[in-house]
Amino acid sequence: MPAIEWLSDISLPVFGESVIGKFDNDLTKNARRNGEPIGERIKVYGKVMDEYGRPLPNVLIEIWQANAAGRYIHKAEIHDAPLDPNFLGGGRMLTDSGGKYQFYTIKPGAYPWGNHFNAWRPNHIHFSVIGHQLSHRLVTQMYFPGDPLFEFDPIFKSVPSPARDLLISKFSMDMTDPEFALAYEFNLVLNGKYKTPFE
Ligand SMILES: [Fe+2]
Repeated sequence: MPAIEWLSDISLPVFGESVIGKFDNDLTKNARRNGEPIGERIKVYGKVMDEYGRPLPNVLIEIWQANAAGRYIHKAEIHDAPLDPNFLGGGRMLTDSGGKYQFYTIKPGAYPWGNHFNAWRPNHIHFSVIGHQLSHRLVTQMYFPGDPLFEFDPIFKSVPSPARDLLISKFSMDMTDPEFALAYEFNLVLNGKYKTPFE
């Protein structure tokens, strides 16, 4: 069928394997130019679920983040910290049949953002999740356990306190790759009482 006819026929978002590149879920590799990115390698993994804890397969997860120095690549960036020629800070993948995902990346640095005097964002990774229902969409941020900046960050504190823990990943020694990368688990729930908050 000609592509244009096929496109007019679809009624759902189309995220096939064909649009995901081999290294799209490995931010330590997907922008290499002349070496490895600088910083602490980490693994970020988890599961995407509905309100009943059922896994959601084939959900598109996109992440974006600052580099190890706390610097984003985009033009509006004002933070005086070095860019990394081997790191772009963007990745994406589809969840597998068990709703699972896994990225390798570099731990993002904290950065100042000018919202108020001495304003610093805690280390975080932005997440976008697009599933196959209107209610299966989410934009949020993943944080790291024990960050001293939590109590000073109006964005983190904009989430009601009982739900803030849902935005903080959990360190996992079991899932850590020996001699390679620490692991952080971040599960996403798209509906219901334990829904991951928007951020
Ligand atoms: Fe950010």
